[in-house]
Amino acid sequence: KKLIIINGPNLNLLGKREPNIYGSLTFTEFYDEVIKKYPDVSIDYFQSNNEGELIDKLHEVGFNFDGVVLNAAAYTHTSVGIGDAVKAIETPVVEVHISNTFNREEFRHHSFISPNAKGVILGFGLQSYELAIQSFL
Ligand code: DQA
Repeated sequence: KKLIIINGPNLNLLGKREPNIYGSLTFTEFYDEVIKKYPDVSIDYFQSNNEGELIDKLHEVGFNFDGVVLNAAAYTHTSVGIGDAVKAIETPVVEVHISNTFNREEFRHHSFISPNAKGVILGFGLQSYELAIQSFL
């Protein structure tokens, strides 16, 4: 299986960004653990703070990978373009969030990704990503 984790804006700051919400592990530390745990699965990783780069990456992997684990971060709530890209590609996308966006501000309750996603996993901390990976196995 060929999977990719795509992280959106500000997720490069994991570990030092609001650790009370997002935890104190950096994404690289978590990613290293996950790829060791699933040696038979190819799991790529891409992060960008730019909407267009996230769309380009979805196009690039969206017809030849088996699955995308997407945390579009703040763009989840704002980006028609990323929502359309998820709809346009063939590869199934599982939307993930570290926090439970439904017990946070109202503006985090809406997602442009969810209607086009295979499923949504949120609120389990970094474990949300692992659960999404398992959903493709
Ligand atoms: C997030 C939730 C979003 O509302 C927020 O903008 C993020 C992270 C999460 O993983 O919990 O940046 O996607």
